[in-house]
Amino acid sequence: MILFYLSKLKVKKLAIKELNCNKHKDALITLKNEINTSPYSEKKVFFEQIDKFSKFLPEEIKKNLNEFKTNNNINSNILLFKSLPLEPNLDSIATSNIKVNKETYVSEICLALFSSIIGEVIGYKQIDDRALFHDIIPEKDLEKEQSFAGSSVELMFHTEQHFHPYSCDYLMLYCLRSDSNALTFFSTIHDILPLLNTEDKDTLFKDLFRLE
Ligand SMILES: [Fe+2]
Repeated sequence: MILFYLSKLKVKKLAIKELNCNKHKDALITLKNEINTSPYSEKKVFFEQIDKFSKFLPEEIKKNLNEFKTNNNINSNILLFKSLPLEPNLDSIATSNIKVNKETYVSEICLALFSSIIGEVIGYKQIDDRALFHDIIPEKDLEKEQSFAGSSVELMFHTEQHFHPYSCDYLMLYCLRSDSNALTFFSTIHDILPLLNTEDKDTLFKDLFRLE
């Protein structure tokens, strides 16, 4: 799991590798200006540009991503990039209108550039018709939901896109606005497996469970 950290979001400190990207901000903004294509209406050109420019990412960022991939997340389960560029004027847009009124793609460009070092961005037909980027925005009247729309309840532990036999290897989050009191918790299978006996593990691998 990779977590992009841009605000005061607090993360439980456990096996997290942190990298402050403040010194790389100018380089990232220069790359963003070169790409300047919509990841939604010009998807093909966007990813061609990502392929072309990803080699110009700062060496320190590439090195951390490559190490994270090569070590198979064993030494650190989360790679946390702090102080990445923000979308301009986002604070002036009402939360309910961000999806419609967001005119810049700083977060999509950074996510795509970083992900190109470790794999391919994928989408699922069943989720937003193969969308490659998902806006996680709290929704009015759904505050208590156990979903991306919820905001006033603590979300239970869950795995992203577990419904599909080909689930993703990495989850990338880019925090644009956050509640300074919000916490993100994570758990890792490397910690859980040693606590289970053989019988439990065998049971968990049986076709007995329904995922919702
Ligand atoms: Fe989630």
